[in-house]
Amino acid sequence: MAKKIYRSIQEEIQALKKERDAVILAHNYQVGGIQDVADFVGDSLALSQQAKKVKAKVILFSGVLFMAETASILCPDKTVLIPSLEAGCSLSSMVHPEEVRVWRKSHPDGLVVAYVNSTADVKAESDYCCTSANAVKLVEKLPKDKDILFIPDYYLGTYVKIRTGRENMTIWNGYCHIHVMIQPEELEALKKKYPKAEILMHPECGCLTKSMKYADQILSTAGMIKYVDQSTASEFIIATETGLLHKLRKDHPDKIFIPATDTAFCNYMKQNTLESLVWSLENMKYEIRVSAEIQKRAITPIERMLEVCGG
Ligand code: 13P
Repeated sequence: MAKKIYRSIQEEIQALKKERDAVILAHNYQVGGIQDVADFVGDSLALSQQAKKVKAKVILFSGVLFMAETASILCPDKTVLIPSLEAGCSLSSMVHPEEVRVWRKSHPDGLVVAYVNSTADVKAESDYCCTSANAVKLVEKLPKDKDILFIPDYYLGTYVKIRTGRENMTIWNGYCHIHVMIQPEELEALKKKYPKAEILMHPECGCLTKSMKYADQILSTAGMIKYVDQSTASEFIIATETGLLHKLRKDHPDKIFIPATDTAFCNYMKQNTLESLVWSLENMKYEIRVSAEIQKRAITPIERMLEVCGG
């Protein structure tokens, strides 16, 4: 049968979504074209909350692998697709389940808090998950006398430690290879160049303790969007992956957004393209499904996070 001709790739994606009973969930770092065609765009927390509400049979996840895995853990009865198996996350590969088990042996009463940027088998070893939007709130709610292992992001963990004043917290030495490039010297130079601009910084940014003094706000990606929506300032320096600039510029054409560095471009996130979304829906690939054993254990820390922090 002849292939149907569409007027645009967007129209083709809409038709395929209908045919497959699919919804597209996309992270704030996706390319603008994907954000515009997605059913829902958000940060890691909002995407987990949204995945739980999906009625469609198929979730096409336009993000990185740990996000698709999280959706599959939360919705084991759905088919979760990701357009590229190359869409990894450097941070999530910096801690392994056996390393968590070693810590537990020496801290049998301790609690493991895993940033959602971790693999399903690491989540399965953890007590709580958190995202950049709720890490402080979550740790604040945990019993003060319990030792905590925070994995895998050193900078987010350090931020949580500072904000909660918690001493009994071991922080893993992992980092996001993109955020670590955003350093205090760059923020200082930009602040001199754009004195009126407010600096919005993601807590994964490099050398957080030194960078913090330049930040007007330390926020998740969704937190930055919300902050700009409500702010009367007209210039912002955005210290995170540059994909976030698409929505900020689209929603606020009258405001100026300056990336903290143009090189904050995550090749993993950008594996997904409009063409690959079409391919994924046509071929129903790549399906992400964690084993039933891991799913059963990994859902507990995610659900605990959603209970404590909403969702
Ligand atoms: P958000 O929690 O803002 O979505 O950040 C996720 C992320 O992967 C940052 O690198």
